[in-house]
Amino acid sequence: MIAIFLLLLISIGSLKSKEIEETLDAVELIAYYGYPVERHYVTTDDGYTIEMQRIPYGRDDRSIDGCTKRPVVFFMHGLFATSYMYLFNLPSQSAAFVFADAGFDVWLGNIRGTEYGLNHTTFHPKEARFWNFTLYEHSHFDLRQQIEYALEKTNQKSLFYVGHSQGTTVMFARLAEADATWQSKIRIFFAMGPTAGFLKPLMPFTLLGEGQLQKLIQFVLDGKFGILPVEVPKAISSIITNICQSRFFSPLCSAGLNAAGLETLGQVNTSRIPIIISHFPSATSTLNLLHWAQIFKFHELRRLDLGAKRNLIAYGQKEAPKFDIGNIVAQTILYFSKEDQITDEMDVREIIMKQMGPGLIESYSLDHFTHADYAIGLRATDEVYKPIIYRISAHLFF
Ligand SMILES: *[C@@H]1O[C@H](CO)[C@@H](O)[C@H](O)[C@H]1NC(C)=O
Ligand SMILES: *[C@@H]1O[C@H](CO)[C@@H](O)[C@H](O)[C@H]1NC(C)=O
Ligand SMILES: *[C@@H]1O[C@H](CO)[C@@H](O)[C@H](O)[C@H]1NC(C)=O
Repeated sequence: MIAIFLLLLISIGSLKSKEIEETLDAVELIAYYGYPVERHYVTTDDGYTIEMQRIPYGRDDRSIDGCTKRPVVFFMHGLFATSYMYLFNLPSQSAAFVFADAGFDVWLGNIRGTEYGLNHTTFHPKEARFWNFTLYEHSHFDLRQQIEYALEKTNQKSLFYVGHSQGTTVMFARLAEADATWQSKIRIFFAMGPTAGFLKPLMPFTLLGEGQLQKLIQFVLDGKFGILPVEVPKAISSIITNICQSRFFSPLCSAGLNAAGLETLGQVNTSRIPIIISHFPSATSTLNLLHWAQIFKFHELRRLDLGAKRNLIAYGQKEAPKFDIGNIVAQTILYFSKEDQITDEMDVREIIMKQMGPGLIESYSLDHFTHADYAIGLRATDEVYKPIIYRISAHLFF
């Protein structure tokens, strides 16, 4: 019975025409909505070529009174996402468009391993060595070099940074590692659903024991396996699409999102779900997931623990070095919520807020925000994006 029902849903789906946005990449989508857009490529020192997108100004070409140049706002996505997460909703609702229309020069960053980072000067994505990276490489190469590139292209000294989830982790790591001169490139670091370590266990990351985890890491480092392209099977995504798009079934779609802890208060536009799942999830490396699993064990941010022997060679010490977020002097503002089941409020308060020093200037606990709501929730526009814009204006003029 259920099988017939599902088959029916799949077949209805295959008859239905696709939403145009499902077939567009980030640049095409931005152009589709009538915004100016540029594609930029950065090749990192270790050979990965990454595509960034730029929306140099908004639809009405507005600038910010009193600024001779549009201030740069750089966005970085989270784990399994791409820059598309800042484009999922309508232009009046999506962060990238809202900031462009407010008068900013918007840059959307990406990381290696996603569909915008599959090129390498000598490695091929079919080879294990292509996937020999974790969030440290995202931080030290992908993020650092894209920021330096955006500043060079716009001829500016500093920019505002907005990150979500792993997009905050890579900035915490970068700032902890950087000297004050590099840190001065970041005017304010806005961290949505921030994470720099966990006290609370989260499945499936805490499934493996420390010994098993270390064995797997050795396995991957030896090139035994490396590729983990995470894909939602077509049949499943087609079922989800149909449930979410049907007027009759869409309450089921909302209820499902709610039960999965993906959203609260029905603030997701269910008719955008097909567009969201055609651009999410993206891929990452097995090694990166193992690094995340270690972060749960350490309860703090460290380099990947390669095991004592390899640590000694790679880091000159037996233990994996720690990122000291107490070193951060760049102004940092946190947005978090009790309802966020991934970057839990307790972890933010007990780890980030306790370990950070003078860099931390403000923090906001939001009502009823899940981890995904920062990207797809319709309340994010008024409760996060616009407050960030006001905060930047206050920084610029007062
Ligand atoms: C990346 O690789 C693909 C496939 O080989 C190619 O079509 C594309 O032009 C490359 N992009 C860049 C920026 O090198
Ligand atoms: C991955 O990188 C590490 C350290 O740079 C190296 O020891 C290891 O051999 C690499 N593994 C593969 C499969 O490329
Ligand atoms: C939801 O998305 C649809 C399709 O893109 C759009 O027509 C509609 O206006 C959106 N609704 C809200 C409340 O934003």
